[in-house]
Amino acid sequence: MQNLDDLITAAESAFAAIHDPNVLEQEKARYLGKSGQITEWLKGLAKLPPEERKSAGAAINRAKAAVEAALTARREALKEAALNMRLAEEALDVTLPGRGEAQGGLHPVTRTLERIETLFRSIGFTVADGPEIEEDFFNFTALNTPEDHPARSMHDTFYLLDENGKVAENVLLRTHTSPIQARYMQAHVAKYKDCETMPEIRIIAPGRVYRVDSDATHSPMFHQVEGLWVGETVSFADLKGVIADFLRRFFETDDLKVRFRPSFFPFTEPSAEIDVAFMKGALEGRWLEIAGCGMVHPNVLKHAGIDAEKYTGFAFGFGPDRLTMLRYGVNDLRLFFEGDLRFLRQFV
Ligand code: PHE
Repeated sequence: MQNLDDLITAAESAFAAIHDPNVLEQEKARYLGKSGQITEWLKGLAKLPPEERKSAGAAINRAKAAVEAALTARREALKEAALNMRLAEEALDVTLPGRGEAQGGLHPVTRTLERIETLFRSIGFTVADGPEIEEDFFNFTALNTPEDHPARSMHDTFYLLDENGKVAENVLLRTHTSPIQARYMQAHVAKYKDCETMPEIRIIAPGRVYRVDSDATHSPMFHQVEGLWVGETVSFADLKGVIADFLRRFFETDDLKVRFRPSFFPFTEPSAEIDVAFMKGALEGRWLEIAGCGMVHPNVLKHAGIDAEKYTGFAFGFGPDRLTMLRYGVNDLRLFFEGDLRFLRQFV
Protein backbone atom coordinates (compact mmCIF):
# COMPACT_ATOMS: atom_id res chain seq x y z
CA MET A 1 0.00 0.00 0.00
CA GLN A 2 2.83 2.32 -0.87
CA ASN A 3 0.33 4.61 -2.64
CA LEU A 4 -1.74 5.23 0.45
CA ASP A 5 1.36 6.34 2.36
CA ASP A 6 2.22 8.72 -0.46
CA LEU A 7 -1.31 10.00 -0.40
CA ILE A 8 -1.09 10.76 3.32
CA THR A 9 2.22 12.54 2.87
CA ALA A 10 0.88 14.51 -0.06
CA ALA A 11 -2.24 15.54 1.88
CA GLU A 12 -0.17 16.55 4.91
CA SER A 13 2.17 18.73 2.91
CA ALA A 14 -0.70 20.21 0.88
CA PHE A 15 -2.54 21.14 4.06
CA ALA A 16 0.59 22.54 5.66
CA ALA A 17 1.15 24.86 2.70
CA ILE A 18 -2.29 26.42 3.04
CA HIS A 19 -2.82 29.59 5.12
CA ASP A 20 -6.40 30.40 4.25
CA PRO A 21 -9.14 28.36 6.03
CA ASN A 22 -11.42 28.50 2.92
CA VAL A 23 -8.72 27.13 0.68
CA LEU A 24 -8.11 24.39 3.24
CA GLU A 25 -11.76 23.28 3.01
CA GLN A 26 -11.48 23.13 -0.80
CA GLU A 27 -8.32 21.06 -0.50
CA LYS A 28 -10.14 18.66 1.83
CA ALA A 29 -12.50 17.80 -1.06
CA ARG A 30 -9.59 16.50 -3.08
CA TYR A 31 -9.09 13.70 -0.56
CA LEU A 32 -12.34 13.19 1.26
CA GLY A 33 -14.95 14.66 -1.12
CA LYS A 34 -17.37 12.63 -3.27
CA SER A 35 -14.75 11.98 -5.89
CA GLY A 36 -11.78 12.55 -3.65
CA GLN A 37 -8.82 10.21 -3.68
CA ILE A 38 -9.74 8.35 -0.48
CA THR A 39 -13.30 7.95 -1.72
CA GLU A 40 -12.00 6.54 -5.01
CA TRP A 41 -9.91 4.04 -3.08
CA LEU A 42 -12.98 2.91 -1.16
CA LYS A 43 -14.95 2.53 -4.37
CA GLY A 44 -12.05 0.39 -5.72
CA LEU A 45 -12.54 -2.10 -2.87
CA ALA A 46 -15.46 -3.71 -4.69
CA LYS A 47 -13.17 -4.75 -7.52
CA LEU A 48 -10.74 -6.57 -5.23
CA PRO A 49 -10.97 -10.24 -4.58
CA PRO A 50 -12.94 -10.88 -1.40
CA GLU A 51 -9.97 -12.18 0.62
CA GLU A 52 -8.04 -8.91 0.10
CA ARG A 53 -10.94 -6.61 0.83
CA LYS A 54 -10.71 -6.73 4.64
CA SER A 55 -7.08 -5.75 4.97
CA ALA A 56 -7.31 -3.27 2.09
CA GLY A 57 -10.39 -1.70 3.72
CA ALA A 58 -8.60 -1.39 7.06
CA ALA A 59 -5.60 0.25 5.38
CA ILE A 60 -7.81 2.75 3.53
CA ASN A 61 -9.64 3.63 6.74
CA ARG A 62 -6.35 4.22 8.52
CA ALA A 63 -5.28 6.47 5.67
CA LYS A 64 -8.63 8.28 5.83
CA ALA A 65 -8.24 8.79 9.57
CA ALA A 66 -4.71 10.09 9.05
CA VAL A 67 -5.87 12.58 6.39
CA GLU A 68 -8.73 13.72 8.62
CA ALA A 69 -6.35 14.12 11.56
CA ALA A 70 -3.98 16.19 9.40
CA LEU A 71 -6.94 18.32 8.30
CA THR A 72 -8.17 18.90 11.85
CA ALA A 73 -4.67 19.75 13.05
CA ARG A 74 -4.28 22.29 10.26
CA ARG A 75 -7.69 23.80 10.97
CA GLU A 76 -6.75 24.27 14.62
CA ALA A 77 -3.38 25.70 13.72
CA LEU A 78 -4.97 28.25 11.37
CA LYS A 79 -7.56 29.20 14.00
CA GLU A 80 -4.89 29.72 16.58
CA ALA A 81 -2.77 31.75 14.17
CA ALA A 82 -5.78 33.96 13.40
CA LEU A 83 -6.47 34.45 17.10
CA ASN A 84 -2.84 35.29 17.83
CA MET A 85 -2.83 37.79 15.03
CA ARG A 86 -5.95 39.48 16.42
CA LEU A 87 -4.53 39.56 19.91
CA ALA A 88 -1.36 41.11 18.60
CA GLU A 89 -3.32 43.70 16.62
CA GLU A 90 -5.57 44.60 19.52
CA ALA A 91 -2.89 44.50 22.16
CA LEU A 92 -3.34 47.09 24.90
CA ASP A 93 -0.53 48.34 27.01
CA VAL A 94 -2.33 48.75 30.29
CA THR A 95 0.73 50.35 31.79
CA LEU A 96 0.53 53.42 29.51
CA PRO A 97 -0.71 56.58 31.25
CA GLY A 98 -4.32 57.53 30.41
CA ARG A 99 -5.07 60.29 27.93
CA GLY A 100 -6.63 63.58 29.01
CA GLU A 101 -6.29 62.78 32.69
CA ALA A 102 -7.70 65.85 34.42
CA GLN A 103 -6.82 66.75 37.94
CA GLY A 104 -9.88 67.42 40.11
CA GLY A 105 -10.00 70.00 42.84
CA LEU A 106 -12.20 71.02 45.73
CA HIS A 107 -14.68 73.85 45.33
CA PRO A 108 -13.62 76.93 47.30
CA VAL A 109 -16.78 76.75 49.43
CA THR A 110 -16.07 73.08 50.15
CA ARG A 111 -12.59 74.06 51.26
CA THR A 112 -14.10 76.60 53.62
CA LEU A 113 -16.59 74.09 55.03
CA GLU A 114 -13.81 71.58 55.63
CA ARG A 115 -11.72 74.24 57.29
CA ILE A 116 -14.59 75.26 59.56
CA GLU A 117 -15.21 71.62 60.50
CA THR A 118 -11.54 71.09 61.33
CA LEU A 119 -11.37 74.20 63.50
CA PHE A 120 -14.53 73.37 65.43
CA ARG A 121 -13.61 69.71 65.82
CA SER A 122 -10.42 70.87 67.49
CA ILE A 123 -12.48 72.44 70.29
CA GLY A 124 -14.74 69.42 70.81
CA PHE A 125 -17.58 70.00 68.36
CA THR A 126 -19.01 67.19 66.24
CA VAL A 127 -20.65 67.59 62.84
CA ALA A 128 -24.42 67.09 62.51
CA ASP A 129 -26.67 66.97 59.45
CA GLY A 130 -30.31 67.40 58.50
CA PRO A 131 -32.59 67.28 55.43
CA GLU A 132 -32.74 70.07 52.85
CA ILE A 133 -36.44 69.39 52.30
CA GLU A 134 -37.51 70.29 55.79
CA GLU A 135 -40.72 70.13 57.75
CA ASP A 136 -42.39 73.41 58.49
CA PHE A 137 -42.32 72.37 62.13
CA PHE A 138 -38.53 72.17 62.41
CA ASN A 139 -37.85 75.14 60.15
CA PHE A 140 -40.19 77.45 62.09
CA THR A 141 -42.40 76.16 64.87
CA ALA A 142 -39.76 74.33 66.91
CA LEU A 143 -37.65 77.47 66.59
CA ASN A 144 -40.18 79.65 68.36
CA THR A 145 -41.49 81.03 65.07
CA PRO A 146 -45.27 80.40 65.19
CA GLU A 147 -47.68 80.37 62.26
CA ASP A 148 -48.38 84.10 62.22
CA HIS A 149 -44.93 85.33 63.09
CA PRO A 150 -43.62 88.03 60.72
CA ALA A 151 -40.25 86.25 60.50
CA ARG A 152 -41.92 83.67 58.31
CA SER A 153 -42.49 86.13 55.54
CA MET A 154 -38.95 87.42 55.84
CA HIS A 155 -37.85 83.89 55.16
CA ASP A 156 -40.21 83.32 52.25
CA THR A 157 -38.75 80.39 50.43
CA PHE A 158 -39.31 77.63 47.90
CA TYR A 159 -42.29 75.51 48.70
CA LEU A 160 -42.88 72.16 47.04
CA LEU A 161 -45.78 70.89 44.95
CA ASP A 162 -47.53 67.65 45.83
CA GLU A 163 -48.61 65.04 43.26
CA ASN A 164 -51.74 67.08 42.46
CA GLY A 165 -49.75 70.22 41.69
CA LYS A 166 -50.83 71.89 44.91
CA VAL A 167 -48.39 73.48 47.32
CA ALA A 168 -47.40 70.66 49.65
CA GLU A 169 -48.35 71.39 53.21
CA ASN A 170 -45.80 71.29 55.97
CA VAL A 171 -42.68 70.93 53.82
CA LEU A 172 -40.34 73.45 52.22
CA LEU A 173 -36.72 73.88 51.21
CA ARG A 174 -35.12 74.86 54.51
CA THR A 175 -34.37 78.56 54.80
CA HIS A 176 -31.57 78.08 57.30
CA THR A 177 -29.64 75.33 59.06
CA SER A 178 -31.27 76.14 62.40
CA PRO A 179 -33.81 73.27 62.08
CA ILE A 180 -30.83 70.97 62.65
CA GLN A 181 -30.58 72.49 66.14
CA ALA A 182 -34.16 71.45 66.86
CA ARG A 183 -33.76 67.99 65.37
CA TYR A 184 -30.49 67.37 67.16
CA MET A 185 -31.79 68.50 70.55
CA GLN A 186 -34.90 66.35 70.22
CA ALA A 187 -32.87 63.26 69.33
CA HIS A 188 -30.33 64.00 72.07
CA VAL A 189 -33.06 64.23 74.72
CA ALA A 190 -34.61 60.96 73.53
CA LYS A 191 -31.22 59.26 73.62
CA TYR A 192 -30.45 60.28 77.22
CA LYS A 193 -33.98 60.27 78.66
CA ASP A 194 -33.12 57.56 81.21
CA CYS A 195 -29.91 59.21 82.36
CA GLU A 196 -29.66 61.44 85.40
CA THR A 197 -27.72 64.12 83.60
CA MET A 198 -27.76 64.94 79.94
CA PRO A 199 -24.34 65.25 78.29
CA GLU A 200 -23.53 68.58 76.68
CA ILE A 201 -24.49 69.27 73.10
CA ARG A 202 -21.70 70.74 71.00
CA ILE A 203 -22.31 70.59 67.27
CA ILE A 204 -21.84 72.42 64.05
CA ALA A 205 -24.08 71.68 61.06
CA PRO A 206 -22.99 72.81 57.61
CA GLY A 207 -25.40 72.61 54.67
CA ARG A 208 -27.24 74.17 51.75
CA VAL A 209 -30.17 76.49 52.41
CA TYR A 210 -32.64 78.26 50.11
CA ARG A 211 -34.26 81.67 49.90
CA VAL A 212 -35.90 83.79 47.25
CA ASP A 213 -32.97 86.14 46.83
CA SER A 214 -30.54 86.81 44.01
CA ASP A 215 -27.90 89.50 43.54
CA ALA A 216 -24.12 89.87 43.85
CA THR A 217 -24.17 88.94 47.52
CA HIS A 218 -27.25 86.67 47.59
CA SER A 219 -27.94 83.42 45.78
CA PRO A 220 -31.22 81.42 45.96
CA MET A 221 -29.09 78.52 47.20
CA PHE A 222 -26.34 79.28 49.63
CA HIS A 223 -24.57 77.71 52.57
CA GLN A 224 -24.76 78.07 56.30
CA VAL A 225 -22.92 76.54 59.18
CA GLU A 226 -25.03 76.24 62.27
CA GLY A 227 -23.44 75.98 65.68
CA LEU A 228 -25.00 74.90 68.95
CA TRP A 229 -23.58 74.47 72.41
CA VAL A 230 -25.98 73.53 75.19
CA GLY A 231 -24.84 72.77 78.73
CA GLU A 232 -25.31 73.73 82.36
CA THR A 233 -23.09 76.80 82.39
CA VAL A 234 -22.91 78.00 78.81
CA SER A 235 -22.93 81.81 78.64
CA PHE A 236 -22.77 84.66 76.17
CA ALA A 237 -19.11 85.09 77.16
CA ASP A 238 -18.45 81.55 75.87
CA LEU A 239 -20.15 82.46 72.62
CA LYS A 240 -17.94 85.53 72.18
CA GLY A 241 -14.80 83.60 73.00
CA VAL A 242 -15.57 80.71 70.66
CA ILE A 243 -16.48 83.01 67.76
CA ALA A 244 -13.56 85.42 68.15
CA ASP A 245 -11.10 82.55 68.43
CA PHE A 246 -12.62 80.79 65.44
CA LEU A 247 -12.42 83.90 63.23
CA ARG A 248 -8.78 84.57 64.09
CA ARG A 249 -7.92 80.98 63.28
CA PHE A 250 -10.03 80.91 60.15
CA PHE A 251 -8.48 84.06 58.66
CA GLU A 252 -5.06 83.22 60.13
CA THR A 253 -4.61 86.68 61.59
CA ASP A 254 -4.91 88.50 64.89
CA ASP A 255 -5.38 91.74 62.99
CA LEU A 256 -9.15 91.63 63.05
CA LYS A 257 -11.90 93.00 65.23
CA VAL A 258 -15.13 91.22 66.09
CA ARG A 259 -18.32 93.04 66.98
CA PHE A 260 -21.59 91.69 68.40
CA ARG A 261 -24.38 93.99 67.24
CA PRO A 262 -27.79 93.57 68.92
CA SER A 263 -30.33 91.98 66.61
CA PHE A 264 -33.40 89.79 66.62
CA PHE A 265 -34.07 86.15 65.90
CA PRO A 266 -37.16 84.37 67.28
CA PHE A 267 -35.07 81.40 68.43
CA THR A 268 -32.40 83.30 70.39
CA GLU A 269 -32.59 85.81 73.21
CA PRO A 270 -30.60 87.95 73.36
CA SER A 271 -29.62 87.90 69.68
CA ALA A 272 -26.78 89.51 67.79
CA GLU A 273 -25.24 89.87 64.37
CA ILE A 274 -21.54 89.17 64.23
CA ASP A 275 -19.46 91.66 62.27
CA VAL A 276 -15.80 91.41 61.50
CA ALA A 277 -13.36 94.15 60.46
CA PHE A 278 -9.83 93.63 59.21
CA MET A 279 -7.16 96.01 60.40
CA LYS A 280 -5.06 95.51 57.26
CA GLY A 281 -5.59 94.88 53.57
CA ALA A 282 -8.13 95.95 50.97
CA LEU A 283 -11.11 95.79 53.32
CA GLU A 284 -9.36 97.60 56.16
CA GLY A 285 -11.68 99.16 58.70
CA ARG A 286 -14.98 98.06 57.08
CA TRP A 287 -17.43 96.15 59.26
CA LEU A 288 -18.71 93.07 57.45
CA GLU A 289 -21.65 91.02 58.65
CA ILE A 290 -20.84 87.31 58.70
CA ALA A 291 -23.18 85.55 61.13
CA GLY A 292 -26.24 85.64 63.34
CA CYS A 293 -26.13 84.32 66.88
CA GLY A 294 -27.58 84.44 70.35
CA MET A 295 -28.49 82.53 73.48
CA VAL A 296 -30.92 79.71 72.69
CA HIS A 297 -34.45 80.93 73.51
CA PRO A 298 -35.98 79.02 76.46
CA ASN A 299 -38.97 78.14 74.27
CA VAL A 300 -36.67 76.37 71.81
CA LEU A 301 -35.17 74.32 74.65
CA LYS A 302 -38.67 73.53 75.95
CA HIS A 303 -39.84 72.44 72.48
CA ALA A 304 -37.00 69.93 72.48
CA GLY A 305 -37.83 68.73 75.97
CA ILE A 306 -34.81 70.34 77.65
CA ASP A 307 -35.17 71.90 81.12
CA ALA A 308 -34.65 75.60 80.41
CA GLU A 309 -34.06 76.29 84.11
CA LYS A 310 -31.13 73.93 84.24
CA TYR A 311 -29.58 74.29 80.81
CA THR A 312 -28.54 77.22 78.68
CA GLY A 313 -26.93 77.37 75.31
CA PHE A 314 -25.79 79.51 72.47
CA ALA A 315 -26.32 79.12 68.75
CA PHE A 316 -24.88 80.77 65.69
CA GLY A 317 -25.34 80.62 61.97
CA PHE A 318 -22.41 81.52 59.72
CA GLY A 319 -22.47 82.28 56.02
CA PRO A 320 -19.50 80.25 54.75
CA ASP A 321 -19.97 81.63 51.23
CA ARG A 322 -19.33 85.09 52.63
CA LEU A 323 -16.32 83.79 54.59
CA THR A 324 -14.97 82.28 51.37
CA MET A 325 -15.40 85.58 49.53
CA LEU A 326 -13.49 87.39 52.26
CA ARG A 327 -10.76 84.83 52.51
CA TYR A 328 -10.09 84.73 48.77
CA GLY A 329 -11.09 88.29 47.83
CA VAL A 330 -14.04 87.36 45.61
CA ASN A 331 -16.62 90.11 45.14
CA ASP A 332 -19.54 88.31 43.47
CA LEU A 333 -21.13 85.36 45.26
CA ARG A 334 -22.74 84.06 42.06
CA LEU A 335 -19.31 83.15 40.65
CA PHE A 336 -19.16 80.26 43.10
CA PHE A 337 -22.23 78.59 41.65
CA GLU A 338 -21.87 79.15 37.91
CA GLY A 339 -19.46 76.24 37.48
CA ASP A 340 -17.03 78.23 35.32
CA LEU A 341 -13.79 76.25 35.44
CA ARG A 342 -11.68 79.29 34.62
CA PHE A 343 -12.86 80.77 37.90
CA LEU A 344 -12.81 77.59 39.97
CA ARG A 345 -9.34 76.46 38.82
CA GLN A 346 -7.79 79.42 40.59
CA PHE A 347 -8.51 77.81 43.95
CA VAL A 348 -7.03 74.38 43.25
N1 PHE B 1 -30.81 81.03 61.29
C1 PHE B 1 -30.41 82.42 61.29
C2 PHE B 1 -30.50 82.95 59.87
O1 PHE B 1 -30.57 82.19 58.96
C3 PHE B 1 -29.03 82.61 61.84
C4 PHE B 1 -28.93 82.25 63.28
C5 PHE B 1 -28.55 80.98 63.65
C6 PHE B 1 -29.19 83.18 64.25
C7 PHE B 1 -28.47 80.65 64.98
C8 PHE B 1 -29.08 82.85 65.59
C9 PHE B 1 -28.73 81.59 65.95
O2 PHE B 1 -30.49 84.13 59.62
